[in-house]
Amino acid sequence: MLYNGMYSQAGCRQKSGACMAAAKICKECYGMEKWNRAKYQPNLPLGPDGKKITACNEHIELSKQAAKEGMVLLKNENEALPLKRGARIALFGKGTVDYVKGGGGSGDVTVPYIRNLYEGFKELGEQVFVFEKTVTFYERYVRDQYELGIQPGMLKEPEIPEELLQEAAAYTDTAIISISRFSGEGWDRKSDFDRIEHHKLVNEQFISQANETFERSDYYLSGAEAGMVEQVAAMFHRVIVVMNVGGMVDSSWFKNDDRISGVLMAWQGGMEGGLAEAELLCGMGNPSGKLCDTFADSFNAYPSSETFYESDDYVDYFEDIYVGYRYFETIPGMKEHVNYPFGFGLSYTSFELTDLCVREEDAELKASVRVTNVGNRSGREVVQLYGSAPQGKLGKESRRLIAFQKTCLLKPGCSQILTLTAPLEDMASYDDLGKVRKSAWILEKGEYGFYLGTDVRSAKELDLKICLKEDEIVEQLSEKMAPSSLSKRLLADGSFESLPQREANDPNENVLERMPFEEVEFPMPQIRACRSLQRRIPAAKYIFSDVAEGKATLEEFIAQLSDEDLCWLVGGQTNTGVANTFGYGNDPVHGIPNIMTADGPAGLRILPQVGVKTTAFPCSTLLACTWDPETTEKVGIAGGAEVKENNISVWLTPAVNIHRTPLCGRNFEYYSEDPFLAAKMAGAMVRGIQSNHVGATVKHFALNNKETNRKECDSRCSERAIREIYIRAFERIVKEEDPWSIMTSYNIINGHRASENADLLTGILRKEWHYDGMVTSDWWTCGEHYKEVNAGNDVKMACGFPQRLLKAMEMGALKREALEKAAGHILKLILKVD
Ligand code: BGC
Repeated sequence: MLYNGMYSQAGCRQKSGACMAAAKICKECYGMEKWNRAKYQPNLPLGPDGKKITACNEHIELSKQAAKEGMVLLKNENEALPLKRGARIALFGKGTVDYVKGGGGSGDVTVPYIRNLYEGFKELGEQVFVFEKTVTFYERYVRDQYELGIQPGMLKEPEIPEELLQEAAAYTDTAIISISRFSGEGWDRKSDFDRIEHHKLVNEQFISQANETFERSDYYLSGAEAGMVEQVAAMFHRVIVVMNVGGMVDSSWFKNDDRISGVLMAWQGGMEGGLAEAELLCGMGNPSGKLCDTFADSFNAYPSSETFYESDDYVDYFEDIYVGYRYFETIPGMKEHVNYPFGFGLSYTSFELTDLCVREEDAELKASVRVTNVGNRSGREVVQLYGSAPQGKLGKESRRLIAFQKTCLLKPGCSQILTLTAPLEDMASYDDLGKVRKSAWILEKGEYGFYLGTDVRSAKELDLKICLKEDEIVEQLSEKMAPSSLSKRLLADGSFESLPQREANDPNENVLERMPFEEVEFPMPQIRACRSLQRRIPAAKYIFSDVAEGKATLEEFIAQLSDEDLCWLVGGQTNTGVANTFGYGNDPVHGIPNIMTADGPAGLRILPQVGVKTTAFPCSTLLACTWDPETTEKVGIAGGAEVKENNISVWLTPAVNIHRTPLCGRNFEYYSEDPFLAAKMAGAMVRGIQSNHVGATVKHFALNNKETNRKECDSRCSERAIREIYIRAFERIVKEEDPWSIMTSYNIINGHRASENADLLTGILRKEWHYDGMVTSDWWTCGEHYKEVNAGNDVKMACGFPQRLLKAMEMGALKREALEKAAGHILKLILKVD
């Protein structure tokens, strides 16, 4: 039943949802009617034999397996790993006990338990023998710190007593150091202490705690951590480091230290992360994760670092399309600043790539290659295909990921032929300034090269070249979202070009005076009978199930709704059941159910006080590092099923913003620096979630790459970089996976709020990409409601402002037509719910 299709309704022998087509009551489902879960919030388990599947053993096992698939082995000198059976080990670093399963804020998950690395080793019985005294030392310390109210993952590293160190060294020559990191929504990570002191952050309370507990740390090791590493490295013959982090961190300290022989980039691995780490370190499984981001030799080497702290009010995306490996592989002199390239990851075995065969067929590149396991352990390898385009007039990145595939688990001596395909169109670039053809995706004339291998740096050039004699226009569009305040941008040769300064006119101008955000009163969503909007409701001609049953069209149904009904519908609705992020719909008079939303993306988030514990899966960065869409699809199926079992209809998952800077506080929720990898991995998640007939929500659309002052910060970026990098993953997912909903972001983009951005939501999303799903705002945005509706943001969460909408209608700033369109998208989504 599990993963082998979908979960069915309790008792139904048909494939899930089949019985719900056309809203028919299914006898197999004991008379369950459409929207049963949304309307009645029944306690109906989805598992076989009436068992609950929420946080069931199968899901927890899947969480562990996924974690093992995405952990990346960065260093393994002298075969330090895997640990030999029966090895004695000593564990160091408070992270041994203070394990961070995932990030904080709306991405947190309420779990039945979390297993840390020590507990992971203990699960493995006599596989290894742990020196217990350092663990006791850390356990006491961590417990005391938690009791003082310090957040897990935010503890200062304690000093190890010298005698303890001596005793441990007498017990074993193998030390395992754990470093853990926590970050979360609403605040950013930091690259050093001095800067953060001068930096105003949104959540002052939290940051004052952070200031007390941190020295110079986060991206870098803190002084206390560096001291602990030094003590351990000086004393032990074999030192292995486990990095329990949500994103890019400094890697120079372990790369350049010969005393450190092994490094596992273990990420935040969900509730079973500690066991997943322990199993991999012991060789129960073989690391096959590959980096989804470039690990540079310092924070300053990332091009975004220069302006990250410049202002709370804006971020200049000067590096343009040269993000991540596109920067390091292209810009002269930057290659040498890479410690570990994009796509890199070691294994306990080795692979050979042979029998390479490459051809072009119907403007599509096809490369096949035999991957053979030539080592002596079973393992998996990832083959990556990159393209390069002629520099031409636009200038291009020197590598672009265009396809990848992961082998199955290959036994020693076994091989598999992988075939990778990519249309040449995927190598097109967007001409925003009209150097070749204004506002078009273009394949410039010249030679296109291709590279195949197991990371971006070592990929070998293929024999096949594709030569275009003339420029080819792939798609003619029109200017959208052009910047008004970005003065310059980076070019491929490392120089900058100036950008034209456009006027920041607002087509969707303010008619109602915008209220300062601090003065906005957010009413809690109400049930409709108690709404403040007073009027008499005439008898409805149709109820909503008439539409579901084909007795009325959606247009007929909407036509009978009053303006007030529509204004009600385009705002968030009250929570029911276990939900805490509110709902859509909720018009009992017209039979519209109130369907609930819930957070993710690392698992269904239900508030602790409710008492329902769910599975915490690994963070998205780790999932991206699996380079295995099948794994994320399984996580999507399982997570989506937990969503459904708890009577939630729409999951606010996945999040696909680009890892532009190591410091974005929510990078753990996002997938990669590369939009293709992000789209393929998050797209599989969408597929998995929606196979349960619950909706996925792809967020945060778009350019939400910094958390500080996120509701008022302007992301200033060229149209080309917006299209090629920042909305590219959304585009692919919209076109390939048809997500039920998209969530706009809080931030401003080139002077216009994302949720009020007609270019983004109507011009690009609806007209260019033909998106037919629903668009929601992020929760409690600063956007003006009528402007959001006009722009194409269908629903304002967590609550709408019906009176202000009616006022805007009165003043001629909002037309019924726009409301009908928005309501139509919301109702279409509700129709998809079982
Ligand atoms: C976050 C979203 C989340 C929403 C609902 C917002 O603060 O940015 O990602 O889905 O809250 O909790």
